[in-house]
Amino acid sequence: MSDERADSPAVTYGGYLQVDELLNLQKPRSEGPEHDEMLFIIIHQVYELWFKQLLHEFDRAVALLQQNDVVRAQHTLKRILTILKVLVAQLDILETMTPLEFLSFRSRLEAASGFQSDQFRQLEFLLGQKSRHAIERFGEGTRARTALERRWHELTLWDAFLHYLSREGYPVPEAHLHRDRTTPIQASAEIQQILTDVYRKDSRNSELCERFVDLDEGIQEWRYRHVKMVERTIGMKRGTGGSTGAQYLQATVGRPAFPDLWEIRGTL
Ligand code: HEM
Repeated sequence: MSDERADSPAVTYGGYLQVDELLNLQKPRSEGPEHDEMLFIIIHQVYELWFKQLLHEFDRAVALLQQNDVVRAQHTLKRILTILKVLVAQLDILETMTPLEFLSFRSRLEAASGFQSDQFRQLEFLLGQKSRHAIERFGEGTRARTALERRWHELTLWDAFLHYLSREGYPVPEAHLHRDRTTPIQASAEIQQILTDVYRKDSRNSELCERFVDLDEGIQEWRYRHVKMVERTIGMKRGTGGSTGAQYLQATVGRPAFPDLWEIRGTL
């Protein structure tokens, strides 16, 4: 053992994971406090941790695509998809909370809402669903604003994929390779033609495309399950974040991140 290790205290489970700090982060606001508020806090905190891990993995997936390492990029996407399944499944736990149990502390949330999750917005940005409005909700110099500003300018996963396809020899038009990354990904007949060729002739890259479809479907599945949970818990009431609630959320459900991959399926 080196001298340095002999001097420092032994690593423990609690120390390494900062368990004391972690267990001190749940601060119910209701009187009592209401029993279900603990579940509500913990589930949101767990989501935020998984969002952090997803962002970490997405950054890796983009970097691997940029290095043309498609095998490891797919492996990373597989992990992302597995986490996404856990995220969807977790909603079952929150659905054990009845409308009255939620109402027992809902007013204490004031204007707080998942709407303000910057990590969720970062995930949307990575998928090409960027919005200035989402950035401007956060004060200058905050962690959230800095992270979103960075991702505003960064490549989206789709852009990294198009660049990769171009390096693989597919004729991706320059306009797509150098498109304004801050704008939404629009369906394109030229890209659809390329993807059709990939599906017909290139099994390795068509498998990669399938993982993108899994991802898009997984996000839509989360959105669908979240809105159903919202409907069964608060009906058509407005959200604490100020939106029309379920009505607003329903409009986000069928919006694909990668429209071209859906468009081609009817003609393959
Ligand atoms: C009883 C449980 C929940 C209710 C009633 C609920 C309700 C809502 C409502 C009404 C909105 C629309 C924005 C607003 O006006 O507030 C919203 C947005 C959102 N919620 Fe929840 N939510 C719940 C649980 C969760 C959980 C566990 C998460 C996990 C992080 C979450 C994440 C989000 C996100 C990311 C948005 C923004 C979605 C978007 O803008 O597309 N929510 N929620």
